[in-house]
Amino acid sequence: MSSIAPFINLRTSGLGYQLLADSVPELSWEFATGAEAPDRAVVEVYHAGASVPMWQGTWRVGTQPAVRYAGPPLERSAAYTWRVGATVRDTQVWSAAASFETHPGPLHELAEWIGLQVTEPADAPTPVQYLRRTFDLEAAPVRARLYASARGWYGLAVNGGDVTGVRITPRFTAYDQRLEYEGYDVTDELVAGSNTIGIELAEGRYRGRNGAFGQRNTYGQQIAAIAYLLIEFESGRREIITTDAAWEGGYGPRRFADPQEGVTIDARISGAQFTAGTALADARPVEVFPRGAERVEAARSEPVVVVDVLEPARTTTIGDRIVVDFGQNLVGVARLTVAGPAGATLAVYHSELVDEAGRIRTDYLLGDGVLPAVPAIDRYVLAGEGSEILEPRYTIRGFRYIEIEGALQVDLERIEALVVQADLRYDGEFSSSHSGLNQLHDNIVWSMRGNFTDVPTDCPTRERSGWTGDAQVFAPAATYLADVSLFLRDWLRDVVLQQSEDGALGDVAPRDSRPLPELSQFAGLMDGKGSAGWADAITMVPWTLYQRYGCTDVLAENWDAMVAWVQFCLRRAADRHPSRTGDPLPHERYVVDTGFHWGEWLEPGNEFDGPEAAQMILNLANNPDAEVATAYFAHSARLVAEAAAVLGKAQSAQEYAELHEQIRAAYQAEFLDPDGMPRTLTQAKLVRPLTFGLIPEHARQRVADRLADLVVADGTRLATGFLSTGYLLPCLSAWGYDDLALDLLLQEERPSWLGQVAQGATTMLESWNGVGSQNHYALGAVARWMYENLAGLRAVTPGWQQIEIRPMLTHRLEHVSARTMTPYGPLSSAWQRSESGWELEVTVPTGVEARIAVDGGNVLEDGARIVALPCGTSTWRVRSGPVEVLADTL
Ligand code: BGC
Repeated sequence: MSSIAPFINLRTSGLGYQLLADSVPELSWEFATGAEAPDRAVVEVYHAGASVPMWQGTWRVGTQPAVRYAGPPLERSAAYTWRVGATVRDTQVWSAAASFETHPGPLHELAEWIGLQVTEPADAPTPVQYLRRTFDLEAAPVRARLYASARGWYGLAVNGGDVTGVRITPRFTAYDQRLEYEGYDVTDELVAGSNTIGIELAEGRYRGRNGAFGQRNTYGQQIAAIAYLLIEFESGRREIITTDAAWEGGYGPRRFADPQEGVTIDARISGAQFTAGTALADARPVEVFPRGAERVEAARSEPVVVVDVLEPARTTTIGDRIVVDFGQNLVGVARLTVAGPAGATLAVYHSELVDEAGRIRTDYLLGDGVLPAVPAIDRYVLAGEGSEILEPRYTIRGFRYIEIEGALQVDLERIEALVVQADLRYDGEFSSSHSGLNQLHDNIVWSMRGNFTDVPTDCPTRERSGWTGDAQVFAPAATYLADVSLFLRDWLRDVVLQQSEDGALGDVAPRDSRPLPELSQFAGLMDGKGSAGWADAITMVPWTLYQRYGCTDVLAENWDAMVAWVQFCLRRAADRHPSRTGDPLPHERYVVDTGFHWGEWLEPGNEFDGPEAAQMILNLANNPDAEVATAYFAHSARLVAEAAAVLGKAQSAQEYAELHEQIRAAYQAEFLDPDGMPRTLTQAKLVRPLTFGLIPEHARQRVADRLADLVVADGTRLATGFLSTGYLLPCLSAWGYDDLALDLLLQEERPSWLGQVAQGATTMLESWNGVGSQNHYALGAVARWMYENLAGLRAVTPGWQQIEIRPMLTHRLEHVSARTMTPYGPLSSAWQRSESGWELEVTVPTGVEARIAVDGGNVLEDGARIVALPCGTSTWRVRSGPVEVLADTL
């Protein structure tokens, strides 16, 4: 074996690139597949360019491949490098060096908020502002960094060169309390002599249309930008340029850019090259706006950028329009390259669906008129100067089709869809002999990509909101598909920031609406205190992240909020629903039957559509589903108890374990019959208490058997909604019904996952009948079962230190393979049916303890059922057991 360093993919506080938000970074790496694990490793941190380390830390085998920096305080705006090394076979080996830079400090303390006064009324859009500053430099810099943020969305240019590209920045955070900034390397853009830096400033989610009702001014009426340019010369001298009164502002060809409505670009207006000297319309000195209450801090999660460019799959001319099908429902913007006469106008309409005539549909997202129509339309006026690139920025939308009005008067040279998403590492892979399953997996990934953008959203077309419930149900699956540790951890910061003093939590974070007349029909119906299963994201998402990434910090960060939420639920449980009369029974104290709760939500037959839509909300408000609310109360209390144990809070661990016991007893008294069987027999009402451990031990198998009966009686079809769908297959598998779970997954008759695929979907649909949004990841929670059960990739301990590969070997598929990323490196399992059984190939990362386990009567070649696995890739033969035995258990 060679002595090549086994350490790869070095990351600083989770990010592979430079700007560091933490003052004490976590230095982590993965092991190269098949590399020998050293017993210990040394991490060295250097001032960039220094030859002597400023700090050394030690890592020991058996722990996650990460070390927390504990050296002298890091300086601001400084560059560092680090590496990890070990003695491998008597030779000292080192990883390639990783580098990072520290941030300059909170931007609101370093620069001023600038912009042009917004004079438009609150219900009207305000134009994109062009802000610039020209200055001289004595020499070209050796290092220059431009840091920026905005009350709005921004783009940066230096000396006519685009710095930011198409991106969504700043990402959506609780803008009234925190904004993030990013840092850009502009060393090569700056020159000796005269330089101009510029900011395009659009409304973004701060002032533009936001949320289900497309309200404006969610966070304020006045948009503003803030930036800080740090320039270093060879002499060591530093120069700083910040946003201040010395900047000028004006307007340019990007007239309007709204996150939901789209953009208006008039290319005849001067200013496109405004940092290369072209004049700005209505130029004047900027105004300096007061500092607000919000903090502006370095970004802690991946940026939202273009990751892919798709070409049209099909182009059709219908009348005077061209309809383009990209062949994939996606999130981003459409870019056109055209040549045409000056003043020619184009309008580009977007949709996920077309009608029978092939025209795009704009009618399907309105919830029977409950929601306003905010169609996504980009409008262009050509300059008429040869090829023009029409590229929407500061907007984002979900679409598969675009319809171009005015296309016939121009030469359409190129049509592209730019896919915009949070730049996460998508390492999850799944493939099988069943093309429908492969398409389902693709659809789930595309829905995740499209909805893990500037926050985890429900859908990219309608409200585009950070619905807590959607993130909660999908998070476990998401962790198999991509590294979401930073993304979700950062989003939780906003969930916590917007928690109210009494511990209540909204169902949407960050907040994206405010009380306005258009909401009055719902005022009083929804108490905004947090729905069961939605607000419980505050306990469930941190727990999922702890389980998958093994990091206890996320529990510590959210601890207070988790406790406050459970305490809020405890007080809410003390309230009594008006329909209850007589003296309360003691257990009622722990039954949550008040507040607004979405319930199981969107079970087949209960889709949110048609004339009943508003009535449905009214029913939910008057008759909250106490079973759902009490079950989640119990579950959150239990997670708080478990988090307390992990964090070493013994007293809290005991207190919340006792609370959990009381809620559990109340749940059993209220919702189960004396034999422990749920009183209401729907799939969801059995899956939920089984999953949350609310059924008495002696009754569990019976309840699971009953669930299986219900599934079979329903024609081997699922009947779960939003909350329980992700639990249905794991639950069946846990109680011996692997085959039935697979039947459900392979079911093509609706309601089913493959029913969506058969309908031609390229993303996950919001509802089982296809009504509503075409891009909702929630029902894609099933991906977890595909990885965990079908391919058998399971973490035995938090953070994958101990792994069990227990694939569901079945004669019904020819092969299945899946791969996911663990903190140690990739983990995969691939099985293939053979004449005598199955061939199994597994890849286990270095540094973990792993075993393979087969069940269902099957055995490995040597007769064993469980074998410890070596790291790296190994192959195994499994002899077929008596499969009939499994079938008999049905
Ligand atoms: C969203 C859901 C969300 C729900 C609340 C819908 O409009 O699209 O995914 O969780 O409202 O029930």
